[in-house]
Amino acid sequence: MKKVWLMAVMLSAMGLMLIAASSNDGLLINYFQLPQAISTTTNKAHADLRLVDNMRPEACAQCHQAQFEAWKHSRHAHAYSPGLVGQFPSMGHSNSNDCLVCHAPLVQQLYRDAGDMQATLATLLRHPEGFSSDADLDSKQAALPLRHAGVTCAVCHVRNGQRFGPPRRNNDEVGHLNGAAHGGFTATKDFEKSQFCAACHQFPQSYAIHGKPLENTVYEWKQSYFASEGVQCQGCHMPDRVHAFKGIHDKQMVLSGLDFQLEKQGDVAVLKITSKHIGHAFPTYVTPKVMIHAEAFNQHGVILQTWQWEIVRKVAYENGWKEIKDARLMPNQSRMFTTDGIKGDVAFVKFYVDVIPDAFYKGVYQNLLAGDMQPAARKLIQKALADAEKNDYRLFEGRLSYP
Ligand code: HEC
Ligand code: HEC
Ligand code: HEC
Ligand code: HEC
Ligand code: HEC
Repeated sequence: MKKVWLMAVMLSAMGLMLIAASSNDGLLINYFQLPQAISTTTNKAHADLRLVDNMRPEACAQCHQAQFEAWKHSRHAHAYSPGLVGQFPSMGHSNSNDCLVCHAPLVQQLYRDAGDMQATLATLLRHPEGFSSDADLDSKQAALPLRHAGVTCAVCHVRNGQRFGPPRRNNDEVGHLNGAAHGGFTATKDFEKSQFCAACHQFPQSYAIHGKPLENTVYEWKQSYFASEGVQCQGCHMPDRVHAFKGIHDKQMVLSGLDFQLEKQGDVAVLKITSKHIGHAFPTYVTPKVMIHAEAFNQHGVILQTWQWEIVRKVAYENGWKEIKDARLMPNQSRMFTTDGIKGDVAFVKFYVDVIPDAFYKGVYQNLLAGDMQPAARKLIQKALADAEKNDYRLFEGRLSYP
């Protein structure tokens, strides 16, 4: 409970901070001055999906089907989540808006008052998907309020009724381009740069704990070999401009970044893990945890020896945030996970690597559930905890045989 509150206090200066994070590198001025600048066009909004000034993702999907199909399975589409919203009643609507500046930042998405916030709880339980299921324009189903769509298309692409995007695929032309819909669009190369993601994925240095902010992804990237090679966030998270934004919750994505090597070295067994294609620390946030363990078996399958390690940045709040340890893998770094001497009657040694993407949040949810909560908020947090548990997966398993 305490932890969550302090998080809210820590973030309350966020509006200011986000401007700072996105003010250099020639990004459109104030593009991410959240939330004030993100007025799209109209509040009459959601009635007719066919209107081009409709900001709902289903409306964009009429003409941008491919982006919608990829985005709708992404974490961005589900950023207005049970784990987020379930915490709001205890924070009040004004502090909650400080969270929405990253999770659902359009002016139309923010809460006007406490009733507005409260009304959302039951709706979210009924509609965790966040948009009309398959962009069915003829559906008679009432549209969900736009905030349920989280980090939706307009958050990244619409300012004051104008569309902004990268240059067309076939040429480098920038500036205002005429097009067949919504008055054309403004093309800018800023969409192809890491700095575009900074507003929500980088805290300023003044929020550092032991020299490093809780979110330090863009800085980590700048220090890496990938920045000097010109590989931006989009190069790995939006290959060929696909809007899937895969990360630690996707096993194939994580495998694509790592290399595993098992070997015997004298009387010990070693698993060597190398971060070969991750443009920041693995993992970049303090919220996931990677567990490694090894077991030595005799020929009857009885376990004789066990070992355990973890890859994580651990922080805790004790009169201020403290870093307990930082055991993450930096880009291109290798680490050896080495057993003690293997006993004589061991027949084989197994190594396992398990990913717990939401390890930190599980603890937050368990703390919340142990205290008093509004019934609707409790249901959301119970769902968040169940979902977080389903996200755990085994990344790697390997075996060494002993003569
Ligand atoms: C009626 C069809 C239609 C709707 C609805 C529509 N668009 Fe477009 N959009 C277009 C067309 C046509 C273009 C121009 C493509 C070109 O000229 O290369 C375009 C271009 C764009 C671009 C620039 C693409 C690039 O190459 O950089 C973006 C970004 C964009 N739209 C976003 C949106 C968003 C966000 C929505 C919903 C809020 C939306 N559009 C709704 C038809 C539509
Ligand atoms: C600066 C942007 C930013 C702000 C402000 C922010 N978050 Fe987040 N949040 C993120 C990002 C990025 C992730 C995904 C990475 C991670 O797990 O840390 C995330 C993930 C989460 C998750 C886990 C995923 C999910 O949606 O269930 C929860 C819960 C959450 N945030 C709650 C909050 C709360 C509560 C606040 C306000 C006190 C808040 N966030 C403010 C950026 C932000
Ligand atoms: C988190 C920010 C973000 C969100 C959310 C987002 N986009 Fe994009 N979009 C981008 C970026 C960045 C690019 C350029 C990627 C690149 O050039 O590598 C892009 C590119 C595009 C393009 C040009 C695609 C092409 O192939 O040339 C269109 C069209 C588009 N987005 C539409 C949408 C629609 C529709 C949605 C919602 C379903 C959406 N975007 C959601 C950031 C976003
Ligand atoms: C060279 C490829 C590459 C680049 C460049 C890259 N990433 Fe990643 N990213 C990955 C891989 C692979 C994962 C999955 C492993 C992991 O979680 O670290 C990942 C995971 C993530 C996650 C999930 C959360 C977590 O704790 O790891 C976020 C958020 C993220 N990246 C954001 C970014 C941003 C923002 C940038 C640009 C500053 C960026 N990435 C640049 C490959 C890349
Ligand atoms: C308006 C704020 C915002 C912007 C801009 C933004 N993100 Fe995010 N991003 C979020 C939030 C919030 C989450 C966490 C969603 C959740 O799980 O609740 C997130 C989650 C992610 C994840 C997490 C995947 C995982 O498995 O945990 C990746 C990867 C990611 N973003 C990449 C990007 C990239 C690349 C860009 C720039 C092209 C970008 N984001 C721009 C707000 C943003």
